[in-house]
Amino acid sequence: MDLGIKGETALVVGASEGIGYESAKALLEEGADLIICSRNPEKLKQAAANLEQAVGRPVRWCAADVTKAADVAALQQWLERQTVKLDILVSAVGGSQRALFGELDDAAWYANYEFNVMGTVRVIRATLELLKKSGAGRIVILGAAGPRMPYPHQLVSNVHKAGLIALVKTLGAEFQPFNIRVNSVSPGRTMTSLWTNRITKLAQERGVPPAAIVDEFAHEIPLGRFGQPEEIAPMVVFLASHKTSYVTCQSILVDGGIARGLV
Ligand SMILES: NC(=O)c1ccc[n+]([C@@H]2O[C@H](COP(=O)([O-])OP(=O)(O)OC[C@H]3O[C@@H](n4cnc5c(N)ncnc54)[C@H](OP(=O)(O)O)[C@@H]3O)[C@@H](O)[C@H]2O)c1
Repeated sequence: MDLGIKGETALVVGASEGIGYESAKALLEEGADLIICSRNPEKLKQAAANLEQAVGRPVRWCAADVTKAADVAALQQWLERQTVKLDILVSAVGGSQRALFGELDDAAWYANYEFNVMGTVRVIRATLELLKKSGAGRIVILGAAGPRMPYPHQLVSNVHKAGLIALVKTLGAEFQPFNIRVNSVSPGRTMTSLWTNRITKLAQERGVPPAAIVDEFAHEIPLGRFGQPEEIAPMVVFLASHKTSYVTCQSILVDGGIARGLV
């Protein structure tokens, strides 16, 4: 299937590892001109080199911490020097924090809000004019299955990722006059550093082998296992392609079936 994105310009934010990295790789493989962004310049430079080696095409990169408005402003200026238009924006920054209500003070709530919501808001704002110039821009945001089946111990990300579903619904309609589609992909439990770090920590706390923690969390998933980031990336690329030209305002689960709600 030709996804129609060859030669288009794509920016993936949160692309030095995990789901963002695999989404960037898949876009590059489909022929997009790729720009990647994340916080740590050394990690990002290495990710760009790995992608270039894997796919055999050049990759541009610019480091920015999306929780910092000044970094995103600098990213915007850099982008405007690099390209006349942007066709695809993927925002893959965010994460969950295991904590109960009583363990979360105002600072923890605001920090998670910056990470899960404002980072994406800032990146959309910074790229909107370039996306308008595409004439058919697409935005894909990484959400989470959590808001569709709120996980215990993950209060802040359940709440803030639900906000992203509302963001997608609202912006998809608001950006229609610019012919920009806005969708999100909602992963379930996916084996990235987010989970490998958590598994190590929980195994140490409970004095059990990491495999026991993996089994415990995998047991709740209808497919019986964690997802891999390369199993999330194809949905990101599909929504970013022209094959989904009648899809906007949607949050699509790629979660091994863990969110059991009927809607
Ligand atoms: N893995 C899961 O089970 C799961 C489940 C549901 C939803 N999701 C969502 O999927 C998305 C990707 O998750 P992931 O598991 O792939 O994450 P990950 O493996 O932790 O990778 C996160 C990426 O974002 C970058 N990043 C982190 N903070 C940043 C910041 N402030 N500014 C710019 N870049 C930043 C990281 O690079 P640097 O450290 O260099 O900045 C890295 O490239 C997130 O939105 C997450 O909430 C993941």
